[in-house]
Amino acid sequence: MKDFIITLDGPAGVGKSSLAQAVAEEMNLSYMDSGAMFRILAFELGPEALDMSDSELESRLQAFRFSVQGAGKNSVMCCNGRYFGDEIRSEEVAALASRLGANAVVRAFLCGAQRDVGMQSSLVCEGRDMGSVIFPHALCKFFLDATPEERARRRSRQLESQGKIADYSTILDQILTRDAKDRNRKESPLRPARDAILIDTTERTLDEVLELLLAHINHMLKPRAPEHE
Ligand code: DC
Repeated sequence: MKDFIITLDGPAGVGKSSLAQAVAEEMNLSYMDSGAMFRILAFELGPEALDMSDSELESRLQAFRFSVQGAGKNSVMCCNGRYFGDEIRSEEVAALASRLGANAVVRAFLCGAQRDVGMQSSLVCEGRDMGSVIFPHALCKFFLDATPEERARRRSRQLESQGKIADYSTILDQILTRDAKDRNRKESPLRPARDAILIDTTERTLDEVLELLLAHINHMLKPRAPEHE
């Protein structure tokens, strides 16, 4: 593992991607979106993946090679040299990604792929288990949370700003369903690492949270006076 790994974990819609990108940009690090890796597998394998035997799934997964290209806010997650954009951002793909995320074969495969990326470059990475499972020795670990209602409001505003249909109660339902799946699965459930810094973002703007994250990171990086006997 490279020396410099910062992890941001938390539930759907809490602002992890925007914040991880902003921290990566500020610190000139690469940004790894682990959710995109689950989404790419969901998009490429489709719902049939849920019915595959472990050995079939294992052999299909061997065809996926992940890498992060670029740095800062321009970092993108690629698979077999291809960038996946809007096609993996639908709620259907997210729901299938969440179901695949409960599968031990998928998690073991992506755990290896994520650690490989961490061997190549210093990173800001975001997901559900970056600090608790994938990079337990990360320099700085954050767990972000906000009420489901606030996350649904943010998602609706984001969709509206993109000119898309955004029904608040449908979005809230989707968030609650995905939360339950991500938090209650047996394999790497969504939960803070023991040494994670917890930040409730419900009443904070993105800029306020970013300021907090950077203050914690800078504090961790400050040279410490040597301890005397
Ligand atoms: O962060 P996201 O919404 O793009 O993630 C989509 C789904 O992928 C999420 O609901 C659960 C799964 N996931 C996971 O299990 N572990 C991760 N580290 C990231 C995502």
